[in-house]
Amino acid sequence: MDDLRDKYIALIADAADEASIEDLRVQAVGKKGEIALKMRELGKMTPEERQVMGPKLNALKDEINSALSAKKASLADAALEERLRSEWLDVTLPGRGRRQGSIHPISQVTEEVSAIFADMGFAVAEGPQIETDWYNFDALNIPGHHPARAEMDTFYTHRAEGDNRPPHVLRTHTSPVQIRSMEKIGAPIRIICPGRVYRADYDQTHTPMFHQVEGLAIDKDISMANLKWVLEEFFTAFFGTSVKTRFRASHFPFTEPSAEVDIQCSWENGSVKVGEGDDWLEVLGSGMVHPKVLAAGGIDPNEWQGFAFGIGIDRLAMLKYGIPDLRAFFDADLRWLRHYGFASLDQPTLHGGLTR
Ligand code: PHE
Repeated sequence: MDDLRDKYIALIADAADEASIEDLRVQAVGKKGEIALKMRELGKMTPEERQVMGPKLNALKDEINSALSAKKASLADAALEERLRSEWLDVTLPGRGRRQGSIHPISQVTEEVSAIFADMGFAVAEGPQIETDWYNFDALNIPGHHPARAEMDTFYTHRAEGDNRPPHVLRTHTSPVQIRSMEKIGAPIRIICPGRVYRADYDQTHTPMFHQVEGLAIDKDISMANLKWVLEEFFTAFFGTSVKTRFRASHFPFTEPSAEVDIQCSWENGSVKVGEGDDWLEVLGSGMVHPKVLAAGGIDPNEWQGFAFGIGIDRLAMLKYGIPDLRAFFDADLRWLRHYGFASLDQPTLHGGLTR
């Protein structure tokens, strides 16, 4: 019995996990375990021997059982300790910084422009960047032979051999959205349409893709005076200072009369300041919507009239934020983006302020 006892106490002490404890339990005190075998031998003993051995065997069984449960508990404790150690977290460590993107000046200015015109009752409209030649040209009173088509350096899409339909174009201006809005809304209309436009041109002041915002107001008695007021109101809000405008007679096939609009500026050693001085900078084309254009959009030119304008957004961004080279806008240079970009929470509103 002493051998049995020493053997199991040692084995239990060495057990590495709960499974080996269970094996030992079956071997020692299970129904067919070593103690049970010993118990069976009691039957062959004399009553005197049995009286001594019986309680001894029971005591041994109890001793082994309690060694087993003590070991089991200490293994569970050790496992918990180990988990606590391995899952330990230092909450005092400084956080890992996350790279933050910024809002591109074009997006920022688009939001600013939209906020200002929204305040004057203009809704934002959109149209596709790949246009039919009807919306981009014909409906705007630019027929096939018109020199304006050639002047615009249009990108044409490819048609399959034998397909004689006129090719789609990358829109050369946002003016096709005038027609789409007339068809969709009918008169009266007050919309702006900011968006991308495309022309095959590339130098310091031209990129093959750039941005315009179209404006269109149609009603019963809209005149050039309304156009001038709206534009001056816009520039003053946008630049945060009163800005004089100069209307120069011009020509666009889709407006009559037409005017190019300059804003007052000054040049000081190579950089431009808006709203002061006696130089002028061209920023947009505009005019009274041509009757043929109204008709193409399904609006009766005998009943309705209106003005339209197209402003270069990129130019506005360069002027307001002192960005010298247009091409850098589209180089995706992270250093440039971090320098000229805006924080994502700086959403421009008229009341919250348009600039940082
Ligand atoms: N679509 C003209 C351009 O891209 C601008 C314009 C718009 C002129 C509306 C008059 C009216 O140059």
